[in-house]
Amino acid sequence: MTRIFSGVKPTGHLTLGNYLGAVRQWVAADQAPEDALFCVVDLHALTIEHDPARVRRLSREAATLLLAAGLSPEKCTLFVQSHVDEHTRLAYLLECTATDGELRRMIQYKEKAAAAQAAGAGVRLSLLTYPVLMAADILAYDTDEVPVGEDQRQHVELTRDLAVRFNQRYGPTFAVPKVTLPAVAARVMDLQDPTSKMGKSGDAGAGVVFMLDEPGVVRKKVMRAVTDSGDGGVVYDRAARPGVANLLDVLGACTGADPVVLAEGYGGYGALKRDVADAVVELLRPVRERHAELAADPGAVEKVLRAGAERARGLARPVVDRAYRAIGLLER
Ligand code: TYM
Repeated sequence: MTRIFSGVKPTGHLTLGNYLGAVRQWVAADQAPEDALFCVVDLHALTIEHDPARVRRLSREAATLLLAAGLSPEKCTLFVQSHVDEHTRLAYLLECTATDGELRRMIQYKEKAAAAQAAGAGVRLSLLTYPVLMAADILAYDTDEVPVGEDQRQHVELTRDLAVRFNQRYGPTFAVPKVTLPAVAARVMDLQDPTSKMGKSGDAGAGVVFMLDEPGVVRKKVMRAVTDSGDGGVVYDRAARPGVANLLDVLGACTGADPVVLAEGYGGYGALKRDVADAVVELLRPVRERHAELAADPGAVEKVLRAGAERARGLARPVVDRAYRAIGLLER
């Protein structure tokens, strides 16, 4: 059976990018006879300036939303990272496997470190070691596949490198995972700045559609999306016309149609935006409604998370113990 692992970081409300790039793939995997683990990676949310109460609230919200999106606790294992100590135990061994240079090369580190510095905050050491903890998340479960959006590809590649290096130095210990990206919408762009990724930390962003946005808000954001100048009509050209290509990608992801073919059906941006708004509203409507039901019973969500953590611990412990033995530590 294929083991799948993926995670989401509670640093903001989940976005349409998270949904199309990742969560929808997870729900699909959850329906197949695969062994899937999904994790709210709360420790990762501490790598940048954070408000403790907000992280706690967003962790609960993310877990509730994943269930609302269709993950079923009977089929998959849903849990919170900080409830399973094996992640941090393993991260240390992997820190002894990774180098400073390879972590400093990570694109997300460079971007987030620059943002922290620009905001006058120090760069937390954990921001640098973040991809190592992410590698531990994945390797602790003998994971075969990691379904993520494009922005996480580099981190999964580093995970592979660390697994291979550890296995070569200390003997076969870890499964070497591979990344899986969605065919469309692997990188949903910001509606106001279509050269940047749609990200959840841009909270106030008019260019970010959140999964829990009311239909009226979704419509407003989509109708105000920046399109490109030029009189070439609606064509799919990511480099020259990033705003329109992004709308076509989103519509393609919602409808299952090819964005290039979709472009041929539109004479102007207005009709395209209306269709995108309708498609996104309808896509998110059942998730928002189910979220409201589930949020009314937080005890039930907590129960799912407790059971998930227990199962996750049982899976991770032997793998991490194996790594402790392999690297030269005495048995307890
Ligand atoms: P995070 O929380 O930033 O995003 C969660 C998932 O959503 C995808 N995603 C997007 N996909 C398409 N377009 C976008 N605009 C967009 N924005 C986000 C991300 O690629 C991701 O799949 N480091 C990870 C969390 C993590 C993790 C892991 C993932 C920690 N440990 C182990 C997989 C396996 C992160 O920050 O994702």
